[in-house]
Amino acid sequence: MSWESAFLSEGQNDLETCLTKREYEADISTRAMERRATSSKGVSNGFENMVGVSSALRAVLDLVRIVAPTNSTALIEGETGTGKELIARAIHQHSSRRDRSFVKLNCAAIPLGLLESELFGHERGAFTGAVTREVGRFEAADRGTLFLDEIGDIPLELQAKLLRLLQEGEFERLGSTQTLRADVRLVAATNHDLTDMVSKKQFRGDLYYRLNVFPIAVPPLRDRLEDIPLLVEHFVKIFAKRMGKQIDEIPTKVRGDLVGHSWPGNIRELQNFIERAVILSRGHVLQVSSRDVRSLISVGPNFDRCQTMEDAERKHFLATLKQTKWVIAGPRGAAKSLGMKRSTVYFRMKKLGIVRSFDGTHSPLQQRKRP
Ligand SMILES: Nc1ncnc2c1ncn2[C@@H]1O[C@H](COP(=O)(O)OP(=O)(O)OP(=O)(O)O)[C@@H](O)[C@H]1O
Ligand SMILES: [Mg+2]
Repeated sequence: MSWESAFLSEGQNDLETCLTKREYEADISTRAMERRATSSKGVSNGFENMVGVSSALRAVLDLVRIVAPTNSTALIEGETGTGKELIARAIHQHSSRRDRSFVKLNCAAIPLGLLESELFGHERGAFTGAVTREVGRFEAADRGTLFLDEIGDIPLELQAKLLRLLQEGEFERLGSTQTLRADVRLVAATNHDLTDMVSKKQFRGDLYYRLNVFPIAVPPLRDRLEDIPLLVEHFVKIFAKRMGKQIDEIPTKVRGDLVGHSWPGNIRELQNFIERAVILSRGHVLQVSSRDVRSLISVGPNFDRCQTMEDAERKHFLATLKQTKWVIAGPRGAAKSLGMKRSTVYFRMKKLGIVRSFDGTHSPLQQRKRP
């Protein structure tokens, strides 16, 4: 049976409901959408400050819920600005350690010579300038969580010491021979490909396997386009409040333009863009100049110019279908990863003019004629 006849045999009532809902969502007034975004618990899924409804984000949050109550090490991987730190904090908040400290150490931000003493602490006189005894981050995180950010930047010579720390929970402050112990839950994050670094001998394989107990891959924003309108509303609200402005309308065109950008800097880039737009906006409507939008789209690598939200949706559907090898139903099907009913997927495909080519190996775009 072709997908079209499969589509036609699906319950029409379902389809109509979905169509009405989707069309409603597409045209919904910004004010109503904002009310939905802020009032619905479904948007945050019980995770404070975490906005998004995409299946990609929900899958990540499911992993957070699973790993949080354990004591296992979690390794959060993802491009810059995708929300890795937010995920690390969520793991701590959903663990039994939530009332203890969440201690963060950015391995890339600390000069190499100081990193060891930051991690393990030091005794008075351990090195020039060590005028007092200092407790390290590992010790400070005792019975709490230590978040090692940018773990890929930790120098090789320190990696062996970190491994011992993770395996035995033991360490010595610099300048001391006394072995100390601490009960620390470790969460690490990186935007490097650690397996690649291991193969290039830039990262110890044994440390990588010790860290990679429970990996969580945070998807880039371009793989969760449906979160963009909600994030835009969220940031508009935050910045407008901070700047004492009242902005309660985001033009549909602006929303469409923002969904059509690839956001290589991910949520942080979107956040900064909205901050600038709020600064420049006068009145109650968010103002984004077409020049600003053009500059955004032109910086996106490997991303075709998308004119409309429909184009972006078509692109997203095609990428998903390619990933699932055009399987639509079932646990690995496109419907599951798009977070839609099977009938809705067929319906949207038809609406977007997506057909599978006769040899089933690729997916030509059947552009509908624009009025
Ligand atoms: N789902 C989300 N909802 C709302 N805000 C988010 C979300 N994800 C990330 N942010 C915000 O985006 C910004 C970047 O997030 P974060 O610092 O966690 O990213 P990161 O992956 O650690 O980035 P980097 O690799 O550059 O350190 C932060 O201000 C964060 O609050
Ligand atoms: Mg970070």
